[in-house]
Amino acid sequence: MRTPLIAGNWKMNNNRAQARELVEALAPLVKGLEGVEVCVCPPFTALDAAGAAIGDSGIKLGGQNVFWEEKGAWTSQVSPDMLLDVGCTYAIMGHSETRGRFGTVDEALASRLSYFGETDQTINVKAKFVLAKGLVPIVCCGEMIDERKAGKTDEIVSGQIRACLDGLTAEQVAGLVIAYEPVWAIGTGEVCESNEANRVCGLIRETVRDMLGDAAADAVRILYGGSMNDKNAAELLAKPDIDGGLVGGASLKADSFAVICRAAAGD
Ligand code: PGA
Repeated sequence: MRTPLIAGNWKMNNNRAQARELVEALAPLVKGLEGVEVCVCPPFTALDAAGAAIGDSGIKLGGQNVFWEEKGAWTSQVSPDMLLDVGCTYAIMGHSETRGRFGTVDEALASRLSYFGETDQTINVKAKFVLAKGLVPIVCCGEMIDERKAGKTDEIVSGQIRACLDGLTAEQVAGLVIAYEPVWAIGTGEVCESNEANRVCGLIRETVRDMLGDAAADAVRILYGGSMNDKNAAELLAKPDIDGGLVGGASLKADSFAVICRAAAGD
């Protein structure tokens, strides 16, 4: 009953011409594919170009980040309305690369960086603002390697979910997307073993159940992200609590991304 979502997180890759080329190559490979939603998240500068190339393929667009204010003096930030204006359906938030969890921030810079080093609290504010505007948040969570080694994975991940979704209604959470991305698996080629990925996605679902009840827990889509590729996707996507993927490196080639989309569709 949950339609899987495969979202390509292009990160800081592809100029406008490359974005157009990639979407044009992908479109015929996924057009008409049933039982899966396909989304690409180009850098802000290429959203327009990617959007123009989507045609009638059904591919959706997402922003890689979003801010929680309508407009104003927020240098470098992009509002939900701006994303909607270029045709976005989704907005990623809380990715480990924007959470500021890599090392300690110099104290002298801390006050200036506080808006841009995302935390569970800023993600919570963003999720509420974005939902009110009609965009679908893709809320990322996941433990770092030291946290996993210390046996803290469940505590960290459920804590992130509780804080990021705090104050949202069951209806709002039913409609959003969560991405479980163990930080140690991102861009490393070291994928999380499929049973363990499914276990943590299940833990996230049970956390939502505890917070908001059955309807939200059974409807919310929970993606796995971290070195998902055309070889390992089918096994991960066959797991009952994994409702799709947030794909980085393997989303940069139309062929490999299409294989993942097809695996999600059970094709
Ligand atoms: P990866 O990135 O697939 O390259 O590991 C995933 C992500 O960061 O969303």
